[in-house]
Amino acid sequence: MANMIVAGNWKMNASKSAVTEILSGLKQGLVGTSGAELVVFPPFPYLAQVQQELAGTSIRIGLQNVCAAPKGAFTGEVSLAMAAEFGVTYVLVGHSERRALFAEDDAQVAAKYVATQAANLTPILCVGETLEQREQGQTLAVVNAQVQAIIDAAGADSFANAVIAYEPVWAIGTGLTASPAQAQAVHQAIREHVAKVAPVEAASMKILYGGSVTAASAAELFAQADIDGSLVGGASLQAESFLAIGQAAQ
Ligand code: PGA
Repeated sequence: MANMIVAGNWKMNASKSAVTEILSGLKQGLVGTSGAELVVFPPFPYLAQVQQELAGTSIRIGLQNVCAAPKGAFTGEVSLAMAAEFGVTYVLVGHSERRALFAEDDAQVAAKYVATQAANLTPILCVGETLEQREQGQTLAVVNAQVQAIIDAAGADSFANAVIAYEPVWAIGTGLTASPAQAQAVHQAIREHVAKVAPVEAASMKILYGGSVTAASAAELFAQADIDGSLVGGASLQAESFLAIGQAAQ
C-alpha cells in the first residue's frame, strides 16, 4: 500500500488536449510510483474528461476548491455532491491562493472542511506562513492557529479522515523550497499540536509538503520523518516531472 500522497494541483491551467497529454503520460509511466498515491486536481470543466480518462487506473481525482453549501443560489460555485459524481475523493481547502486572492478566512475554510467530511470525501487542509511572518518568527504560531481553527470547528479526531498540506506561502510558485529541515520542523510541530488532543489521529495523519517541489527536491523532503508526500503545483503539469516526484516516494 502507498504510504505517501503525491498530489498535483493544476490550478487554472490545462486545456482539453493538455489534459489528455498529461494523463496519458501518467498512465504510461506509473511503473515505480507504487510508493505514492497519485492524485490530480484539474479545473472543474475537465472533471468529466479526467474521470473518463483515468477510469480503471489507481490515480485519484481531487477538487481544487468547493462550496460548503449543498445546493442552490450560489452563482459560480460547485458542490460536493457534484464532485462526487465525477469520482472525486480529495478536496483542497484553504489553499493560500484562495485565502489571499479570494479572501477565504479560517471560518470559511473550516466550513468547507466540515462539509467535505460530511460528504464522505477527504479534505486536504492547506496551511502556511508568509515570508514576513517567517522573518518575524511567527511560523509555528501562524500554522498552529490555522490548524486550531479546524480543531475548534471539527474536533481533532476529524484528522482521522483528513490530510494536512504545509505550504509556506513564500515557496509557492517561486522556485524557493523550504529546506528539508525547515519543512520537517513545521511538520513535526503540526503533528505535536494535534497530538495534544488526538494522539492516535496525529500519529497516523498524513502531512504533505508543498511549495516549488520538483523531482530534484522530493527525495530529501520525503526522507524526513514527518513528511508524508507533497502537494505539487508547477511540476504536476508535465507527466514526466510529476511521475519523477512519485518515484521519489519509493
Ligand atoms: P508550486 O505550487 O509547486 O507551483 O509551488 C504548490 C501549490 O500551490 O500547491
